[in-house]
Amino acid sequence: VRQAGTGADAPLARVPGPHGTYTPVSAFQPRVPQGARVDHFTLTAEYRTLTLGGEPVRAMTFNGTAPGPLLVAHQGDVMEVTVQNRLSVPLTIHWHGIPVPGAEDGVPGVTQNPIPPGGSYTYEFVATEAGTYWYHSHEASFEEVGLGLYGAIVILPKHALYPAQRDYTLVLHEWPNASTAKAMMANLASGARDAGSNGGTMSEGMMNGAGTMGGMGMMGSAAQNSEGAWGSMQHVLPGPPLRTGTFAPTTDDYAALDEMAGMYGAFTVNQNADGTTLLPAKPGQLVRLRIVNSGNMTRLLTLVGAPFRVVALDGHDIANPGWLKGVLLPIGAAERYDVEFRVPPSGAAYLISADPDATARQELRAAIGDPGAWASFPGISAAAIAREPWFDFTDYGRGRLPGETVFRLNQAYQVRYNMKLTVGMSMNGMVYAINGRVFPNIPPIVVHKGDAVLVHIVNDSPYIHPMHLHGHDFQVLTRDGRPVQGSPIFLDTLNVFPGESYDIAFRADNPGLWMFHCHDLEHAASGMDVMVQYA
Ligand code: C2O
Ligand code: CU
Repeated sequence: VRQAGTGADAPLARVPGPHGTYTPVSAFQPRVPQGARVDHFTLTAEYRTLTLGGEPVRAMTFNGTAPGPLLVAHQGDVMEVTVQNRLSVPLTIHWHGIPVPGAEDGVPGVTQNPIPPGGSYTYEFVATEAGTYWYHSHEASFEEVGLGLYGAIVILPKHALYPAQRDYTLVLHEWPNASTAKAMMANLASGARDAGSNGGTMSEGMMNGAGTMGGMGMMGSAAQNSEGAWGSMQHVLPGPPLRTGTFAPTTDDYAALDEMAGMYGAFTVNQNADGTTLLPAKPGQLVRLRIVNSGNMTRLLTLVGAPFRVVALDGHDIANPGWLKGVLLPIGAAERYDVEFRVPPSGAAYLISADPDATARQELRAAIGDPGAWASFPGISAAAIAREPWFDFTDYGRGRLPGETVFRLNQAYQVRYNMKLTVGMSMNGMVYAINGRVFPNIPPIVVHKGDAVLVHIVNDSPYIHPMHLHGHDFQVLTRDGRPVQGSPIFLDTLNVFPGESYDIAFRADNPGLWMFHCHDLEHAASGMDVMVQYA
């Protein structure tokens, strides 16, 4: 049995805000329901030294912890979140997966100015959709999220489709190792957020104009392989052409990859870097685990000791999910999986990490059940887990949710967009491209309100790209050319594996200027971002 820690092992404390009556604080707040309840939260960003895996780590935290407090609201409530910045660098907060109004989206330089050191800012939006979401800084996000500015959000449903007796939220994070963390802090402090040093997001590109774009330019953005409609676009910046098509890594590429693999230190579940996160429940009780991946890597998890089912993906309920056993769930960066199971008579079940890659970690993550039963946990090797195929939502579930509509492609106005994800090398390292270009030289997806927008995504690179759309959810229509059967699958982040292709569709129903980007934040900082713009 791994060492169980003390207080930090406890499930995240829920922070229900003090409730009040609604008073608008934002000029942009639309459609607030009459008599809505307001949940007020305060998030204070501050530096803390956390002990992770026995090592002190200088972190950026919300309210002194990473993850920050779990924000719980009821569907239909107004969420009012005051952010105080006690860091020496600016930040914003993005409400990942919640279809907030454009002005609340937290993208610096696009929807707001970043909150300066010493400043504060209040976000306000209606918790329209129940489900599991998360929040994180969107300023220099590779660094700021990596160093701790993230937390989970639960919006409790008016009517639960899958009511559980125990409901726990687990946030998975991978931390930069000490030297990477130091370099990240230094990057932030110097304000050098150009993409060439992996220190920038597209947002600074838009915000700071020339400086950052110059940085991007150094990396090269030639679109020799542009597709279709974009083929006639000008090459805005000079630079070496990207290598596209079949990827044949060179020794240098491998060196770059090794460097990336070596940059991580502790892996955490909530605040727990070592040992087991212990979650009490009684035999027979129905437990819901809300698993949030706030890191950049896909994590393979499974539940041992009881059959389980995935009742929601990215906050959206699944219709008639089947019971699974020994199936590995590939939980991509920024994705959320809600898993349900019944505590077995033996008293405990275990959520474990089980990466089939021999070099990867294999660690126990959480024990759920009767404290008396935990002691008998025998330890589980990855080999003991049946090698079922990875969770495949192409044919997941049967039937539909009551009242849920399937996306109609025969809508009058359609926008079709092809997104081909590739990687290339430049003089400064790896660049991550969409249609042969890197941000900000990728033309936006232009939509009108009411459009049905179909996006075809092909991953022609050797890396996983978790593609996240702000402000909307989308339906997954096909995977590798096969239609998705059974339950409609709605996501805000689609984890696209090498070689895969998807058709996804969303309704243009939330006017604004929205990002669509890879949530491997290093990839986002190195060019893999496009904007969705309402005409
Ligand atoms: Cu969770 Cu633009 O990100
Ligand atoms: Cu990516």
